[in-house]
Amino acid sequence: MAIEADTTATEMFDSVNLDSLSRAERYKMLTGAVIPRPIAFVTTIGPNGIINAAPFSQFVIVAVDPGLLAISIGPRPGSLKDTLLNIRSSGEFVINMVPEGWENVVQECSADQPADVSEVDQLGLATMPSVHIKPPRLADSKIQFECRLERIIELGDAPNHFVIGRVALMHVRHGLAHDCKIDPKKHAPVARIGGRNYVRLGDIVEC
Ligand SMILES: Cc1cc2nc3c(=O)[nH]c(=O)nc-3n(C[C@H](O)[C@H](O)[C@H](O)COP(=O)(O)O)c2cc1C
Repeated sequence: MAIEADTTATEMFDSVNLDSLSRAERYKMLTGAVIPRPIAFVTTIGPNGIINAAPFSQFVIVAVDPGLLAISIGPRPGSLKDTLLNIRSSGEFVINMVPEGWENVVQECSADQPADVSEVDQLGLATMPSVHIKPPRLADSKIQFECRLERIIELGDAPNHFVIGRVALMHVRHGLAHDCKIDPKKHAPVARIGGRNYVRLGDIVEC
């Protein structure tokens, strides 16, 4: 790939020492740069039986043999997020991929709610039972992963909890996959960029 000579000049870049920033500034720089991020819309069940749903865009495939998916759950001042508490106590969660049109739903589900409030009931989201685990799937999500907790790793000073789940069963809406190839246009997941902004799938470039 050709690179224009003057783009290598150091004055072409603002070099930022992340450690010199406030936490909020660091968050904005990292989450503005690492985009687009797919969203894990995680359903869990609390010890009180209440179904919790919350979105997490710090979401990644961490292994294939076996299939391991992970989300990174940030701190909540004075307590821990319900999703983390529920996964810790039950060892189970569902990752629901987010279809187009659900941007407002995930945004609303990210509001800080007391543990006895079910976002699923509040927003009237349709659920369906999982096969191997207790937390239900969100019926209108086109791809869902039933996960059992593999490991939680504490990272950073705050800390973040890196929650790794082993996929016990993956559900794919009829017509989306052929010979294990998922049609990205039919899947059409939503991804997060900065703040309250989301993107949908754009051009696909085949190389
Ligand atoms: C699209 C989106 C992605 C988010 N990603 C994360 C994330 O990766 N990690 C995190 O800790 N919080 C993330 N949040 C914030 C949580 O969803 C929020 O703290 C939520 O209240 C947690 O709910 P809970 O207490 O029911 O687990 C995100 C919010 C939105 C709207």
